[in-house]
Amino acid sequence: MAFEPIFQPLAFRNLTVKNRIFRSNVSGRFDNYDGSGTQTRINWETKFAKGGVGAIISSFVPVHLRGRIVPNYAMIDDDRHIPFWRAVGRAVHEHDCKFILQLSHGGRQRDINGIEYPIGLSSTSKADPIHGFRCEAMTKAQIAEAVACFAEGARRAREAGLDGVELHGANGYLITQFLSSAINDRKDEYGGPLENRARFVLEVVRAIRAKVGSDFHLQMKISAQDFDDALAFLNMGPSGNTLAESVQVAKWLVEAGVDALHVSTGSFFPHPRNPAGADLPVEDLAKSYDTMVSSGERTFANFLLFHGVSGALARSAWNRAAGPADEIEGKNLPDARAIKAAVNVPVICTGGFQTASVITKAITAGDCDAVSMARPLIANNDLVHAFRRGEDRADKPCTYCNRCLVNVVENPLGCYDESRFPSRQAMIAQIMSVFTPPPFVS
Ligand SMILES: Cc1cc2nc3c(=O)[nH]c(=O)nc-3n(C[C@H](O)[C@H](O)[C@H](O)COP(=O)(O)O)c2cc1C
Ligand code: SF4
Repeated sequence: MAFEPIFQPLAFRNLTVKNRIFRSNVSGRFDNYDGSGTQTRINWETKFAKGGVGAIISSFVPVHLRGRIVPNYAMIDDDRHIPFWRAVGRAVHEHDCKFILQLSHGGRQRDINGIEYPIGLSSTSKADPIHGFRCEAMTKAQIAEAVACFAEGARRAREAGLDGVELHGANGYLITQFLSSAINDRKDEYGGPLENRARFVLEVVRAIRAKVGSDFHLQMKISAQDFDDALAFLNMGPSGNTLAESVQVAKWLVEAGVDALHVSTGSFFPHPRNPAGADLPVEDLAKSYDTMVSSGERTFANFLLFHGVSGALARSAWNRAAGPADEIEGKNLPDARAIKAAVNVPVICTGGFQTASVITKAITAGDCDAVSMARPLIANNDLVHAFRRGEDRADKPCTYCNRCLVNVVENPLGCYDESRFPSRQAMIAQIMSVFTPPPFVS
């Protein structure tokens, strides 16, 4: 077989996955406002399971209502959600695909805050610099409650028959808000030197192990580098955690009981380097981000970011920080390699992968053990089957235009690059296919 390393099973300590392609965390706002799940999410996940990936890693699943980033994402904050996740797991398992649930808490970083908790929690009381969502620095009691919520989430995932959990420890959400030297300004034992900033996540890992035992798969998505200063015009910075610091955190995580690391980048989301784009689609942003722009406290500044001359300047700064379009695929591989060299557990790398020969080379060179893909699989749900047939790339690859990303806050998730479709109708039909079978049949 042409790309055999991709189709070798990957054995973790407590889980074996049939191949080296993971569907990376991604979903639309397919669920109910109260955090209960729908048939639409089951349809969404089933698309990728049918498409041949070895495992699906869910999108952001809040462990507490106050940790939600946007309404209409299914949650795992209560036992009443266990039957839904069991149904998701069953649907995916029918296609010999594993399902790993991403345990998440947004902290101060949100897209739309929802009505229940307008003020977020964080390591700091500084609002997030992009949207300006307000937050308060967590008390020790709130930290202990959040740790317990992660552990309860893991217990529910296990009871639902899922194959493992992933801590969302990347991209600026609550765990990053503690880990990052650019964000965490605490003066107590949860702030300051790296060992203090890592205290929160290590407590989470230990609490999960105490709750679910040592034989349930637990991995963590980590930003290997913060690049917090990527957008100079937002006056952000300093740059935050370095690769060397993340390597140290990765070692501590493994000692505490983490079975694998999923390497990403950036101390906020979206970040010019994640998901890295060919060109920021400012017009689509201006059309579809109005809800988000008006949700925080930087409404006017955000309006300027998307419109007129200031919009053009922001776009060029963003694109400069994103780097050249031909360097998107495998952007995080050097970081994954450094982390892999320091730990004795498998490493999954995310970021732009969609070419079988590139993935094969990354695995055989020992840069990572597997890759995760989000946008390329949204564009081509069955890419893994194409690799198996010996095709190196899809006929119509993902163009990294990021229109899927900027539409997701208000529209159903799917590929919005019209140039990839014979017509606009064909594009809409592909997007709307996630609603079949329908949620309610009369
Ligand atoms: C629309 C969209 C939603 C995403 N949601 C999440 C998420 O919920 N959790 C997460 O860890 N990453 C999320 N990501 C990041 C992806 O999982 C992935 O790591 C990133 O897009 C880089 O991979 P890609 O180049 O294959 O898209 C999202 C990305 C996109 C485009
Ligand atoms: S809209 Fe389509 S082509 Fe553009 S980044 Fe998303 S999946 Fe790729």
